[in-house]
Amino acid sequence: MADAECVSFLQWALPHLQLRWLGFRRVRRQVCRRIERRRGALGLADLAAYRAYLGEHPEEWRELDRLCRVTISRFARDRAIWTVLVDDVLPRLAQVATEEGRETLRVWSAGCGAGEEPYTLAIAWRLDFAARWPGLALDVLATDVDDNQLGRAAAARFPTGTLRELPDGWRHDAFDPCDDEQCLREPFRSAVRFVHHDVRSAPPEGVFDLVLCRNLAFTYLDEPLQRAVAATFRSAMRAGSALVVGVHEQLPEGCIGFSPAARSVYVAD
Ligand SMILES: C[S@@+](CC[C@H](N)C(=O)[O-])C[C@H]1O[C@@H](n2cnc3c(N)ncnc32)[C@H](O)[C@@H]1O
Repeated sequence: MADAECVSFLQWALPHLQLRWLGFRRVRRQVCRRIERRRGALGLADLAAYRAYLGEHPEEWRELDRLCRVTISRFARDRAIWTVLVDDVLPRLAQVATEEGRETLRVWSAGCGAGEEPYTLAIAWRLDFAARWPGLALDVLATDVDDNQLGRAAAARFPTGTLRELPDGWRHDAFDPCDDEQCLREPFRSAVRFVHHDVRSAPPEGVFDLVLCRNLAFTYLDEPLQRAVAATFRSAMRAGSALVVGVHEQLPEGCIGFSPAARSVYVAD
């Protein structure tokens, strides 16, 4: 598929899915490769025919939505954010939870990929925090809409390259080589529960001290849907809870209930 054809198709299709072209510009080739395969599998001559097919088969929009998922991730992605999390956000949340007599710090990793983000948190907690907060347990709910990602997360087996941003000590203490990959050791797995969930739906049960939603809602969804997802997150947080977004992301204008605290970090009012 020629690039111009790809761009024109995505600029037409994405708004129908409440997705935004701006988020997809850099990853358009991988998405268009999948669309091209789908078009071929349906036996359609070209993208114009696929557009017509979408008009005649409304259920195909669900398939197109699935083809638009971007799944790339890695451990301790964007180290600057992890530094703020470990040095500032987590200690503050742990301190407040302890003062309020709570025994568990609850985290929601929304759009958790194959587990790289929630497992990074579990590693940071066990190797850096647990000794300082002996009365506090970490409970991470990690959700994703893609069952393939959730299956990979459960296997906890990762290509070595996805560990490149992890501090050496954490990598050494948390992983064992297995074949040509790296397997996360058992104690780091048990703090994380993986559940199928779409961020565009009602939030999971419970109140979270920390919500991580990076490189998903605030990149790929259109602004009205971003505001709706932010409201969903806020409804699952208490005043003082933190929301962490991606390093290149920010909450859109008109989001209610959050104040910016640091780059990529918002605190619930
Ligand atoms: C680019 S990855 C980001 C993973 C991780 N948060 C990070 O920053 O490295 C986006 C993830 O969001 C998932 N995803 C896409 N749409 C979703 C939705 N509507 N609800 C929940 N997860 C979604 C994808 O399957 C993928 O695992």
